[in-house]
Amino acid sequence: MAQRSITLVINILKDSLVKVNSLNTFVFRSFFKPASSAGTEEASSAKRSRQESPQSNGKIGEPEKKIQRKSEEADNRNAKQNVQTNGKNKDTKKASPKASKTSPKNKNTSSPFKKQINDIKKEIKQEKETVDSKLNITSSPFKKQISDAEKDISNEKENEKSDSKHVEVKSEPKSSKDDDASKQNSSKDDNANVKKLSVEANQCGAEYNPASARYHPIKDAYWKAKQSTPYLALARTFEMIEDTKGRYKMVEILANFLSSVLLLNPDDLLSCIYLSINQLAPAYEGVELGVAETTLMKVIAVSTGRELKFIKTQTQEIGDLGIVAERSRVSQRMMFTPKPLTVQTVYQKLRTIAKSSGKAKSPIIHDLFVASRYSEARYIIRSLIGKMRIGIAEKSLFQALATALVSSRGYDENYKKKKQSEADIKKDIEDITFLLKTAYCQCPNFDKIVSTLLTHGIDDLLKYCTMEPGVPLKPMLAHPTRGVSEVMDRLKGNITCEWKYDGERAQIHGDKNGTVNIYSRNQENNTTKYPDIINRIDHFKKDTVQSYIVDSEVVAWDIEQKQILPFQVLSTRKRKNVDVEEIKVQVCVYAFDLLYLNGEALTSKNFEDRRQLLRDNFNEVEGEFQFATSCDTNDPDDIQGFLENSIKGNCEGLMIKSLDNDATYEIAKRSHKWLKLKKDYLTGVGDSLDLVVIGGYIGKGKRTGVYGGFLLACYDDENEEYQSICKIGTGLNDEDLSTHAKFFKEHTIPAPKSYYRYDATLAPDTWFEAVQVWEVKCADLSLSPVHKAAIGIIDPEKGISLRFPRFIRIRDDKSTEDATGAQQVAYMYRNQDQVKNQKTNAAEFDDDFY
Ligand SMILES: *[C@@H]1O[C@H](CO)[C@@H](O)[C@H](O)[C@H]1NC(C)=O
Ligand SMILES: *[C@@H]1O[C@H](CO)[C@@H](O)[C@H](O)[C@H]1NC(C)=O
Ligand SMILES: *[C@@H]1O[C@H](CO)[C@@H](O)[C@H](O)[C@H]1NC(C)=O
Ligand SMILES: *[C@@H]1O[C@H](CO)[C@@H](O)[C@H](O)[C@H]1NC(C)=O
Repeated sequence: MAQRSITLVINILKDSLVKVNSLNTFVFRSFFKPASSAGTEEASSAKRSRQESPQSNGKIGEPEKKIQRKSEEADNRNAKQNVQTNGKNKDTKKASPKASKTSPKNKNTSSPFKKQINDIKKEIKQEKETVDSKLNITSSPFKKQISDAEKDISNEKENEKSDSKHVEVKSEPKSSKDDDASKQNSSKDDNANVKKLSVEANQCGAEYNPASARYHPIKDAYWKAKQSTPYLALARTFEMIEDTKGRYKMVEILANFLSSVLLLNPDDLLSCIYLSINQLAPAYEGVELGVAETTLMKVIAVSTGRELKFIKTQTQEIGDLGIVAERSRVSQRMMFTPKPLTVQTVYQKLRTIAKSSGKAKSPIIHDLFVASRYSEARYIIRSLIGKMRIGIAEKSLFQALATALVSSRGYDENYKKKKQSEADIKKDIEDITFLLKTAYCQCPNFDKIVSTLLTHGIDDLLKYCTMEPGVPLKPMLAHPTRGVSEVMDRLKGNITCEWKYDGERAQIHGDKNGTVNIYSRNQENNTTKYPDIINRIDHFKKDTVQSYIVDSEVVAWDIEQKQILPFQVLSTRKRKNVDVEEIKVQVCVYAFDLLYLNGEALTSKNFEDRRQLLRDNFNEVEGEFQFATSCDTNDPDDIQGFLENSIKGNCEGLMIKSLDNDATYEIAKRSHKWLKLKKDYLTGVGDSLDLVVIGGYIGKGKRTGVYGGFLLACYDDENEEYQSICKIGTGLNDEDLSTHAKFFKEHTIPAPKSYYRYDATLAPDTWFEAVQVWEVKCADLSLSPVHKAAIGIIDPEKGISLRFPRFIRIRDDKSTEDATGAQQVAYMYRNQDQVKNQKTNAAEFDDDFY
């Protein structure tokens, strides 16, 4: 105990000393900078932009000219101002010839010291006040420590002061009244300047560090309670995260920042969350940024007076327009400091940009860009492009938010850290993470979750964030299996088998006002894709039904042959704003589950009951709305026969579902209550995998000019990283190759992400953003010394790779985090006959994945 507090004091002292030291150098540097230098730089930058302008004007057109002219005026004005100040300084010097004559050097040295000391004092006082005022504490345990630290520092200063006094003494006797006045005058000026500078350094947040090991949510935040959270604090958080490799550290950094937000201004929490995951609204609202890079380049060129061509080349070289934007900001000097951006302003402006039509976007982007400082420009531009490149996924966000919630309530009213065991804290974080995830699953809407958290607290989260027709849910997913015998091993009770339709998952929501909406597997709003289903749905539901959520698969239907058509046919259908008159591909809804009925969520009921309710409340119409073909049987031979039938019926295989009492609808889970058995197992080709493309190899011979091969990865959910699994070049025809080349041209990055795991010997010629998922088949899976998929699961050193992988199709409906997971890869590997037969003292694999 005693030891701990001693360490604490030492750390605080250390912190303060470091601050004092850095401040020293800062003040010195700014003081000794020749007074004219700012003016010269100003002038030369004005000159530079004037030189550049004639070329760029012609290219970009009128608006630029205007802004250009404005900025020139600004430069001129600025330069004038500088001349004036310099002149004034000269005047004051003239007025006090004695002082300057006697000891010009002394004057220079004594005054900075004074200011320095004042400044340090002020800083300490300020810091103390900030901490006090932020927390409104009367007696803090930190008070003594801080005042001790203060004493210590002022002692140190005292020594310096006596040194400078010594110097000052010489000049003092000679100073006249005149002299004093001028001195006061100039020192007032200087003081004001230094004060301004130090306040800037201290308060602008350029030094904000949420990655510090002993982050304190109040003391280490540079903004005050009830003040709007500065956007720079968030940008700094992103910077730290970007520089971090490990996911746990990343979560910690974000949690530190969020805990400050929670304690200082919780109203900003929502904006911070949305900005961190680069969303502006729930997925189903479809508010998307994705501003074209060329638009952004133009805005940057216009705002900085640079040539568009220059911005383009820079972007090509650096591979990140965000960095180019940040650097352009640095080189652009401002005559006035714009008001610091807040997270609220940035979030609101991004929303306005998303909702504005093409041309109206640019002025708003310009405003944001011009107001940005330090790394703010980088993240604003990346937000606008739609690629944050920091890799915060939902999972990390929930952990960070839970950690922040736990740590922010870990202080008593005296701002003393409450006593709590590490184990308790860990358990709290786990519980809250789970609550947040569950709430998000049935109500994927951060607006609602955050407002509930802030008004009702975490304990009531699930009471308020409930399921409602109109708000899409995350779907329950099935676990892959490799044969009937495995199915029998896994599901001991009564089971049912359903055909597994090869179409698109569709959640059909009907509210009590009769409004119908249809959502995809990823909670996208695909209502306007299926006007035909919406027009007909009322014929399918019985009069008993007022509100409902049906889970189903939509499949292309051949009206003449009265049969199911393959997925490829469905994928030719228009994706939105479909006109009923123009529909060529007819669809049939195969309903298999009912999640909500007449005001009641059914997800905690078992599958048998839900299925019964579905059958009782809806009618089948052939080719339009049918129940999934099913067969309740526990006989392996029956299951085998039913599987073969499903394939003859143009299906992918079977879904096998438990009829146990506890077989609830497990939202967002790849549950073991649902298994899938695909026909591929019969042919021995192996299941298909959904893999993420992370790099390309430059093609040779016939494939010159396109990529000849690609590096694919699975997604390891545990470490949130992409692990290389194979190189692929087979199954790609010329058309595929040129499509991929075109697509990935827009997604190249100069270096691999910190969360790509691969072996250097496999480094592709070009790295890509993780943006696209491919379905791939292979002959089998084998242990690999170079690939990293599922490394550490089967073998501590080796990963798993695919042998003879073949490209099947692009999976637009899957996000990269929905790609086949590391655990699944390990599972598929273990279940291969040849591996099984080797038998295997391998540890029981982790059942707990989804
Ligand atoms: C989905 O889209 C439909 C049609 O555009 C719209 O009426 C509905 O409000 C949208 N749903 C949500 C939750 O935004
Ligand atoms: C399984 O189904 C049979 C026949 O429908 C039924 O008699 C039996 O009670 C069920 N068993 C369980 C464990 O539910
Ligand atoms: C139904 O309509 C009423 C009145 O138009 C509206 O207040 C209510 O929010 C709507 N209910 C749903 C579930 O959309
Ligand atoms: C669903 O709708 C979204 C938004 O309109 C669209 O981008 C997406 O491609 C659609 N999904 C499918 C599977 O058609």
